[in-house]
Amino acid sequence: MLNKLLLGMLGIIHPWLLKTLGRDRLEYIASNTTNELTQKIDPFIWTYDCKAKVIGIRQETVDTKTFVLLPNQKFMPPIAGQHIELSSIGPNKQANRCYTLSAITPHTVSITVKLNSQGEVSPWLHEFAKVGMVFNISLPRGKFVHRDQNKLLFICAGSGITPAFSMINKLLENKNEAEASQIGLFYRTQTPTNTIFSSRLTELESAHSNLNVELSYSRLPVEIVTPSFIDQLVSAYPDIKQQHVYLCGPELFRNDVIQYLESIDFDMGNLDIEQFTLPTLQKGRQSIRKLDEDVTVLLKSQNINFVIPASDCDKTILEAAEEQGIVMEHGCRSGMCGSCKTNLISGEVSGNQIGRSIYPCTAYPASNQIVLE
Ligand code: FES
Repeated sequence: MLNKLLLGMLGIIHPWLLKTLGRDRLEYIASNTTNELTQKIDPFIWTYDCKAKVIGIRQETVDTKTFVLLPNQKFMPPIAGQHIELSSIGPNKQANRCYTLSAITPHTVSITVKLNSQGEVSPWLHEFAKVGMVFNISLPRGKFVHRDQNKLLFICAGSGITPAFSMINKLLENKNEAEASQIGLFYRTQTPTNTIFSSRLTELESAHSNLNVELSYSRLPVEIVTPSFIDQLVSAYPDIKQQHVYLCGPELFRNDVIQYLESIDFDMGNLDIEQFTLPTLQKGRQSIRKLDEDVTVLLKSQNINFVIPASDCDKTILEAAEEQGIVMEHGCRSGMCGSCKTNLISGEVSGNQIGRSIYPCTAYPASNQIVLE
């Protein structure tokens, strides 16, 4: 009873503290007063870790839930399209998972989780996560974010809608219609009832003339004849070559879209991809190429050169850089979170590359000169 009362009070106090004091001031106070006793009193505020408290849970579809999280003062403001990693969750407290933020407000972030019954984390979240629970989270990460392009097309499937939804909301938030980007969304789900955020998307589309939403379904009754989803995409967005494409969804879906884009000579520099599973063909080190000479790598944005000895061509570009004390941004080290993603300007790499985008944590040198953005 007393516990419940205390939890209820903390549920009111935490949002108030974060809102009233701001994250910076609260961080200053907490970092100067954190000790064993204060950590015991309230491990959400008096902590050295980035944490988030569940303050709301919403059922989106029959197998998808949104968790509204209140991050503590250690968190940094995210950019729409970024993700966080939840750690130490599930029954054995070993599991970590990345989830894109589906909504961002000044004090909260949301993740929208589709149930994967074979998985370890989503079944636990769906069944056991409750309002008031606290998770360890990472700072926001990832480069799947809008970069001022004017004509955008989000191509998504399933829970791949989450980064698109947060970016679309952000893009529609501030600008007046005259200076706004033209935004297209092609969203493929199984059936209308499986369509995450379906009513919100309809509302947004009718409120904003610069947004066009095209929905596509993979499991309609057999008597309903539909074109292939690529045909549907092409007829909805015939000017796709003039758009900047953001692609997010399961691997097979991504592959079909990439194959189509390659077939029309789409400029792959205008393609951003979010993937939380490593493409099958690029797993492991089977794509390493033997080189006879050392490799020079130029990191253009940092204006740094480094050399990978020919004998080290079985190391990823990230590993080789780190061995020489060079810091490259990274997260998961397994080709999935997108934190290390950069563009290949010249030269060749093998492994995890899609168009011009490469993931240095899982890409290997394949030519003697490599220039990265
Ligand atoms: S994709 Fe996560 S570190 Fe490279």
